[in-house]
Amino acid sequence: MNLRSYLSTLSDAGELLTVAQPLDPRLELAGVIHGLSEQPVLFTNVSGSRYPVVAGLCSRRENVARGLGVARERLLESMRTALRSPIPPPLVDEAPCQEVVEQQVHLLDLPALLHLSSDGGPYVSAGVVIIRDPDLGRNMSFHRLLRLDDRRFAVRLVEGRGTHSALHRAGGELEVAICIGNAPAVLLAAATSPPPGVDELGIANALQPTPLARCLTVDLQVPAEAEIVLEGRITGQTVAEGPFLDLTETMDQVRQQPVIEVQCVTHRRDAIYQALLPGGLEHKLLMGMPREPSIFDAVSRVCECTNVLLTTGGGAWLHAVVQIRKRDANDGRLALEEAFRGHGSLKHAIVVDEDIDIYDPERVEWAVATRLQADSGVLLWSDQPGSSLDPSARHVQGLKSTTAKMGIDATIPWRKPTGEPRTVIERQTFLRQGYSPVALDSYKVEKARHA
Ligand SMILES: Cc1cc2nc3c(=O)[nH]c(=O)nc-3n(C[C@H](O)[C@H](O)[C@H](O)COP(=O)(O)O)c2cc1C
Repeated sequence: MNLRSYLSTLSDAGELLTVAQPLDPRLELAGVIHGLSEQPVLFTNVSGSRYPVVAGLCSRRENVARGLGVARERLLESMRTALRSPIPPPLVDEAPCQEVVEQQVHLLDLPALLHLSSDGGPYVSAGVVIIRDPDLGRNMSFHRLLRLDDRRFAVRLVEGRGTHSALHRAGGELEVAICIGNAPAVLLAAATSPPPGVDELGIANALQPTPLARCLTVDLQVPAEAEIVLEGRITGQTVAEGPFLDLTETMDQVRQQPVIEVQCVTHRRDAIYQALLPGGLEHKLLMGMPREPSIFDAVSRVCECTNVLLTTGGGAWLHAVVQIRKRDANDGRLALEEAFRGHGSLKHAIVVDEDIDIYDPERVEWAVATRLQADSGVLLWSDQPGSSLDPSARHVQGLKSTTAKMGIDATIPWRKPTGEPRTVIERQTFLRQGYSPVALDSYKVEKARHA
């Protein structure tokens, strides 16, 4: 499935909105996307741009599932399978993304959005960046791109991630291809961090067929069905990048970051530009979803994990709820320890039993309220590696940020405070009781009228 067939799928499902009136990519477009709660939307008339703009394509799990052709409940399993067994993508000669070739680069033609007046400038926010690490091979990831002028971007490379390490290993310069307008499989695969040497394009291809094309001016391969491809190189030059509204809905700081020079633009005929609202639901879902299988696999090493959710309240990055089928008194604690190994940026995690609906925050809070004793069920760790996006963490330029971490075991305790195991009857006292449903239409219920 490519971006266009995905748009048709969304349209058939009644999920795609269109806006035909002219809109300004400076502030107005982001405001309208936000106002529409990031529902998938196609803007056909963007001021100063020959490209239509789509946004909000992966802002709901249901739609991501449609894009992968699986049921919503199977998403985590599909991601686990693709991560475990990537499939090498085929190479094609005729690539839709190269229908039009522009050797004269005009980045000002791209409808890069100015999202907030406090941002450092207009940003390409849904650009998927492909490079080749001299030792580890191909790497694909998201990097926000601040448009500097008609040929150059500043690129945010988080320290230690694939592109940052590859640039360092390559001696400070790298060829790059930036793909804009991608199907959900490519977007999700770009947000994964598999073990070194595992090809993220193989992960995309395992999720949905993703043929590749050779770039024209750099020695790289890109998804052949991308809408727009920018070929160029990451240079040794750095400039100030930021501020930028990031995942945690706080402003990320200004840093010196590398400059990308673009030398060639290729695109489909009538190409569609893809935008993504920074700090919004889509940003969170794409960041968080690929980490859920990593946490699931880590927890599964020590006990039976049944589900994992990175919650949007925690930016889908800092907070996880882990559901387990508890078989031993220590399973909750062990699950917490492994959850933090499964996702290095995780800051707080709650582990619950299988009877708790992890998609309902009230139920998770109920488990904390009724199953936790904080002096035994809360685990704390100081001075751990943390996320650069958490404003309360300790940040030193060029070094990994550090933070405290907390795990909450909200599973039913298997032992009494005195140490002996509970009986089955005693465990019953922890189960949620409720009312049986009634057929309301057999009752005459009316609105009271004032006399
Ligand atoms: C929408 C979106 C925007 C992102 N922006 C950046 C960014 O600007 N810089 C960065 O280093 N990582 C960014 N990320 C995170 C990386 O793409 C992600 O962590 C990826 O897994 C890194 O892959 P790697 O570990 O193989 O390098 C972004 C992720 C998403 C989903």
